[in-house]
Amino acid sequence: MRNGINLKTPAITGVCGYLPEYVLSNTELARMVDTSDAWITERTGIQERRILKGEGLGTSHMGAEAVKGLLERTGNKPSDVDMLICATTTPDMVFPSTANLISDMVGLGPVGSFDVQAACSGFIYAITIASQFVANGQCRKVVVVGADKMSAIIDYTDRATCVLFGDGAGAVLIEPSPNGEGILDTLIRSDGSGMIHLHQKAGGSRLPPSAETVAKRMHYVHQEGAAVYKFAIAKMAEVAGEIMSRNNLRGDMIQWLVPHQANRRIIESTAERMGMPMDRVMMTIQKYGNTTAATIPLCLWDYESKLKVGDRLILAAFGGGFTWGAAYVTWAYDGAARAGNGAQAA
Ligand code: ACO
Repeated sequence: MRNGINLKTPAITGVCGYLPEYVLSNTELARMVDTSDAWITERTGIQERRILKGEGLGTSHMGAEAVKGLLERTGNKPSDVDMLICATTTPDMVFPSTANLISDMVGLGPVGSFDVQAACSGFIYAITIASQFVANGQCRKVVVVGADKMSAIIDYTDRATCVLFGDGAGAVLIEPSPNGEGILDTLIRSDGSGMIHLHQKAGGSRLPPSAETVAKRMHYVHQEGAAVYKFAIAKMAEVAGEIMSRNNLRGDMIQWLVPHQANRRIIESTAERMGMPMDRVMMTIQKYGNTTAATIPLCLWDYESKLKVGDRLILAAFGGGFTWGAAYVTWAYDGAARAGNGAQAA
């Protein structure tokens, strides 16, 4: 009960991921730029990542596949869904939104659908928004999909960024909790002055595309890795600490840390500061790299079979903007019991 309104607890009641088939290994990258498997593995933890190939296929393709799988696995029809929110930094087009396209591809009908742009924190932002609609009773079933085709905005001549990113999508269903477990708290933060360290220089209204912007390779991710690294280390731990302290949680009370997957060293540092051993930290970076808004739902999908009712999870992310955020979630269903899992083995 808040301000006299009866609020429902929103819960994640299903998850599904989609990864394109093509595997881009460190060895193949070492043939494209001056790098090595040893450097990438040691400095980032990444061994391979997936790349979406195929003419005309954008982020919506991966998002739609993840959403179709989600509906199948949770026994829902497209017409059951009340709203779809897509977190992405690589929309198919400037407009319409990728959420509009996914809704059409899945056949959701005329439900509200929109994109959320918060780079690597996009999934936390999107579940924060979805939770409000479910809590206040306006929606019963909201699909949140995090999807990014980072290969579309990566400069494969820039060794400092091209080794980091991969393509993928992950979707969750959020509905009123069947048992009181669910998304119990979220917090989101931003600082736009971080733009100088991580952005795409051209293609927006400030610097529209032109022959010159293309010639100068300005349509790719520009990242000052060391500066972003410092912020990411500080903010991931800060936001995780804040959500733990305001929910009276200690590291030993949490079953799983679900961190954004940008760099293994950032994840290890966050876990250490939270007092969590690495065997309770979800990790997919070695096989998918940084899939931006898709990393957290892909972690949940990979580890679904290990998740038990009541498990306490802290989700934490940091990304372009800068943006950062966290969520305190207690798991609402028996992951192992869900038939026809289809998830990759964690
Ligand atoms: N192979 C070999 N050498 C490389 C490579 C590579 N792929 N990339 C960089 N180097 C070199 C650099 O040129 C530099 O050489 P120099 O010393 O001769 O100048 C050296 O390695 C060290 O470079 P650093 O940038 O200091 O390397 P660092 O250890 O910081 O690792 C990395 C770089 C992996 C990018 C790291 O800084 C990082 O993870 N940053 C944070 C990324 C992140 O969290 N992003 C936010 C999310 S992304 C989003 O929101 C879209």
